[in-house]
Amino acid sequence: MKAILYTRYGPPSNMHLDEVEKPVPGDNQILIKVKAASVNSYDWRHLRANPFFIRFMVGGLFKPKHRILGADVAGTVEAVGRNVTQFKSGDDVFGEGSYGGFAEYVCVDENRFILKPDNQTFDEAAAVPMAALTALQGLRDKGKIQAKQKVLVNGASGGVGTFAVQIARSFEAEVTGVCSTSKMDLVRSLGADNVVDYTKEDVTKNNQKYDLILDTAAHRSVSDYKRILNPDGVYVLVGGSISRIFQLMFKSKSGVKNIGTMVASINQKDLLFLAELLKSGKIKSVIDKRFPLADTAEAFRYFEAGHTRGKIVITV
Ligand SMILES: NC(=O)c1ccc[n+]([C@@H]2O[C@H](COP(=O)([O-])OP(=O)(O)OC[C@H]3O[C@@H](n4cnc5c(N)ncnc54)[C@H](OP(=O)(O)O)[C@@H]3O)[C@@H](O)[C@H]2O)c1
Repeated sequence: MKAILYTRYGPPSNMHLDEVEKPVPGDNQILIKVKAASVNSYDWRHLRANPFFIRFMVGGLFKPKHRILGADVAGTVEAVGRNVTQFKSGDDVFGEGSYGGFAEYVCVDENRFILKPDNQTFDEAAAVPMAALTALQGLRDKGKIQAKQKVLVNGASGGVGTFAVQIARSFEAEVTGVCSTSKMDLVRSLGADNVVDYTKEDVTKNNQKYDLILDTAAHRSVSDYKRILNPDGVYVLVGGSISRIFQLMFKSKSGVKNIGTMVASINQKDLLFLAELLKSGKIKSVIDKRFPLADTAEAFRYFEAGHTRGKIVITV
C-alpha cells in the first residue's frame, strides 16, 4: 500500500510517499481503508520532535519510532481482529488512532472509533476527532461550561477554535471569539455572539469579563488572563507555546485554582456525544484545504504557518 513515511525528525520535506506492507489488525483492532485523514499539531510535533522530549515519550530518541503519522482518520472497515465486537467489514467509521493514518490502510484499536454519521462526508468526519474532543473536554470537563455564561475562545478560527465556538453555543453560552481580521466572518458564521480582531484590539484590555476562557493560542501572560476572568471564572489552556504551558502548570500547582491546562483523551463516549451534535447540525467541520495523500508534506507546510481556517484534510 502507499503511505507517507518520515524516517528523520525535521521539516515536512522529510516526508515522502512510499510503498509499505499493508498492516494486519491485532486481536482488538480494525483494519480501515482510509478515505480521509486530518492534520493536527500532534502530528506536526512528532514530525519536528517539538518539544525535544517527545523523542523520549514515544521511544524514538534518534529517529522516529512510528514512521507513518496521522491520528485522525475516517474510512471503511475492511477487516477486524478476532476479539472485535463493535464493527464489521463495510462499516464507515471515524475516530482517532495515534499513528498510521496518512496511508491507504491503517490498523486502530476498535475502542477509539465509532460509526460515521450518515450526514457527514469522510472529509468532514476526519476533521473532527482531536480538535473537537479538545474543545469539548476543555469547555465541558475542565471549564464546567454552563448556559448563559460568558465564554471567550482565543484562537477561534483554527481547528480547535472553530469547534469550540460551536460547542460553546450548543451549551447556550454567550461566546466571544478572538481571531485575525480575515477570519471574523467565519467565526461569526459559526455562532459567536461577539468577535474580537486580535490584530486591532487586545482582548485582555477591553474591560470585558468572562466566566470561562478556552485558550488555544496563549499569546498573553497568565496575569493578563486573570484580569478578565470573573471571580469564579475558569481559564483553560489547551494550546500555545510549551513555555506558556509550563508557566501555567507551575501557577496552577502554586495554589491558583481557576487556571489549568488539559490534554484531550480519546474515548467513544465523547465521540458519540460529538456525533449527536454533528447529526443535529449543531456543529460542523470547517475545512480550509484538502491535499491528496501524495502532497501531505505540502499540507504540513501550510499547517505550520499557523493560520489555518479550521482544518486541513488529507484525501486518500
Ligand atoms: N491540549 C490538547 O489536547 C490539544 C489538542 C489539540 C491541539 N492542541 C493545541 O491547540 C493549539 C491549537 O491547535 P489547532 O489545531 O486549533 O491549531 P490551528 O488550526 O493552527 O489554529 C491556530 C489558530 O491560532 C490563531 N492565532 C494565531 N495567533 C493568534 C493570536 N495572537 N491570538 C489569537 N489567535 C491566534 C490562528 O488564527 P488566525 O489565523 O486568525 O491568526 C489560528 O486559527 C495548538 O497549540 C495545539 O498544539 C492541544
